Amino acid sequence: MTASNSTSATPYGTIPPASPLPQRRPVSLPRLAQMRASGEKITMLTAYDATFAAMADAAGVECILVGDSLGMVCQGLHSTVGVSLDDMAYHTACVARGLHRVQGTAWLVADLSYGSYHASREQALHSATRLMQAGAHMVKLEGGGWTTDTVRFLVERGIPVCAHLGLTPQTVHALGGYRVQGRGDEAAAVLRQHALELQDAGASMLVLEMVPAALSRSLTEELLHCHTIGIGAGSGTAGQVLVLHDMLGMNLGKMAKFVHNFMEEAGSIQGAMQAYVQAVKQGSFPDDQRHAW
Ligand code: KIV
Repeated sequence: MTASNSTSATPYGTIPPASPLPQRRPVSLPRLAQMRASGEKITMLTAYDATFAAMADAAGVECILVGDSLGMVCQGLHSTVGVSLDDMAYHTACVARGLHRVQGTAWLVADLSYGSYHASREQALHSATRLMQAGAHMVKLEGGGWTTDTVRFLVERGIPVCAHLGLTPQTVHALGGYRVQGRGDEAAAVLRQHALELQDAGASMLVLEMVPAALSRSLTEELLHCHTIGIGAGSGTAGQVLVLHDMLGMNLGKMAKFVHNFMEEAGSIQGAMQAYVQAVKQGSFPDDQRHAW
């Protein structure tokens, strides 16, 4: 079929009608557990629109996160606090459509926005339902302790949950800035306690952000049913996540220590995404000497 007689052709960025990797199986919770059991690292990348989601999927990224980091990279906000549930549902639907268009296989995780799960378990269920209906396979929420009941409530109702500990950007004001968390015996013990409770409540994934490498490695060894996904948490986690714009070098400010610009060597967006997947799988990213605490 040529571009001129294809009904899906548009004059703008065209998403191909079929997946270039048709042999791949859809990523699911059992598939992620298999990867974990076999020692294969899980890759996650953020995406906020159809085209980037389709490209990340084609590059072999297993999990796509519609992160509320979209507040900074798409909306120009200073933090994720201003992102609404409507914003999250809109971008989740865009990403889900992009994946659908290419018969994508990626597991789609969407962030519950600030204030959308804090009031009650029922509020969290209502918010999570909106994201699931927009196309998410799993929702992510930040914090430990007070979130445990909410996680259990969602999981019991068939909603897979990814937790998020360490630097939790929605509480950046309470934390006093974007800084490493879990340093020192006391802070590490609290983080460990929260992580174990979240696993017990049924969280099947846990993002660990800006946590010392040794702590996230030992947590990963303990959390056998909850896959740790690190960002600035060293190489010992079950998987890695980066914000798309950061790993493509689309960052006008100072790049965080844990980020690597994959675009520099790759020269193309697709190449950079493939290089990221390969580096995580091979264990060359992150390098604990350069990217961790
Ligand atoms: O919102 C986001 O992009 C995230 C990642 C930094 C993990 O939560």
